Amino acid sequence: MIPNQGLSDTHVSLLYRAISEHKEKPGPLMPTLQDAQKIFGCVPLNVQKIIAKELNESVAKINGVVTFYSQFSLTPKGKNTISVCLGTACYVKGAQGVLDAFEDELGIKNGETTKDGEYTLEATRCIGACGLAPVFCVNDTVCGRANVQKAKSTLRYVKEHDVVE
Ligand code: FES
Repeated sequence: MIPNQGLSDTHVSLLYRAISEHKEKPGPLMPTLQDAQKIFGCVPLNVQKIIAKELNESVAKINGVVTFYSQFSLTPKGKNTISVCLGTACYVKGAQGVLDAFEDELGIKNGETTKDGEYTLEATRCIGACGLAPVFCVNDTVCGRANVQKAKSTLRYVKEHDVVE
């Protein structure tokens, strides 16, 4: 076993249990990483090392998967995640301006979380809603035909109501 390095024993036990469940089936890496993300709220390097050892994979490969897919993060995400699609259809219709507006309003850069832990901002690849371009999401809610004004008003709404409808 790898030393826990600041991880809670309970969480580490849950991780080992998840690994042993997935290990017996084909393609155990993605479901193990998904469980790790749920258990720890992120998949930092010390968690990746445990998974690498148990699944007989390299840490480099696991780190590559974690950093490629937006469903995984290296540091804990905020309570709300705002994702701005920077895929081609969205980009040509002004998605960068929408991302800039969120950065200004939240006082953070793409990939960061606000100090109060409320918001994580991230740019994503195409989410398959190109007909509504440019789009951004607040958690699981897709907001289409976005612009700077819509970004600001949605954020104001989320801050006031703590939900997006
Ligand atoms: S490019 Fe943004 S949804 Fe497809």
